[in-house]
Amino acid sequence: MTATPELTSFGDRFEERLREAAIADSPFVTEAATHVISAGGKRFRPLLVALSSQFGGDVDEERLMDAALVMEITHVASLYHDDVMDEADLRRAAPSANARWGNLVAILVGDYLFSRASSIVAGLGVEYVALQAATFTRLVQGQVAETIGPDDETDPLEHYLQVIADKTGSLIAASALFGAMVSGADQSVLDALAAYGEELGLVFQLSDDLIDITSNQTGKTPGTDLREGVATLPTLLLARSDDPGDAELLELLDSDLSCDERLAEALEALRAHPVIDEARAEVNRRAELAKSHLAPLRDGEAKDMLLALCDELVNRSV
Ligand code: FPP
Ligand code: MG
Repeated sequence: MTATPELTSFGDRFEERLREAAIADSPFVTEAATHVISAGGKRFRPLLVALSSQFGGDVDEERLMDAALVMEITHVASLYHDDVMDEADLRRAAPSANARWGNLVAILVGDYLFSRASSIVAGLGVEYVALQAATFTRLVQGQVAETIGPDDETDPLEHYLQVIADKTGSLIAASALFGAMVSGADQSVLDALAAYGEELGLVFQLSDDLIDITSNQTGKTPGTDLREGVATLPTLLLARSDDPGDAELLELLDSDLSCDERLAEALEALRAHPVIDEARAEVNRRAELAKSHLAPLRDGEAKDMLLALCDELVNRSV
């Protein structure tokens, strides 16, 4: 996707403001809070805020910037906590905050960043605060549900889809809504962008989980979900298989994968299994569904870019 000059200039100012927003009273907190921000990132959520702001009326640039900052800072804050939960060593090809400074610092710096996002959202107005709070509720509930796993009455695949809707779809949908709200868009636009954002969020996390298995270029350790015992679409599809030929792989996936050789063996076998293509087909199907929610929106560059985001997620390898 080629960015317009306006988007490129917004992106440059955004980077500056993002760093400024993380500055703390203590140089140590500033260093730890800018650590993940400086390591890069796709800035997917601020891009979505900016594109979604093109479907209403006049946009106040400062409010648009603040809306984009709230979404990215909340996302980054959640990554500090997520890497503690996943015991991850790498984030954005750099040592994770927990690997560098330990769990206690990583958790508190995540809290610090969330406080910075809360302070910015307060300036936007009560309806933004309410959406931000509802999103935080879903993020946390999604993470807890992932951690405890499905109960006996719940289908594991249904459980997984609810988890990813809450832990990822919620913030991506909120990003689309924040942009539309800043532009004073009418309710039909808000509804379309919310539905698009929820589905796009599912596509984002489905593809993220898929490349946790298939890619060595994510800047994260491949196979983290397998090692942590977190079931994702390919392993859930495999678990449904009644082919006796799959028993050995299922047993391997169920075993202790803390040893690097066993994890590599599991990754290699899973990468060669047809469930990977089945999972890809599901990502594709849902990406088309996300696109269909954009039908009521006015045609133009912003809509084309929102459509292109769906294709990029289907084809992503990082
Ligand atoms: C990434 O999952 C994690 C999330 C999308 C949400 C994390 C949310 C929390 C930890 C709740 C606390 C939130 C805040 C704002 C402090 P993943 O492990 O599948 O993705 P990864 O591959 O990028 O690690
Ligand atoms: Mg993680």
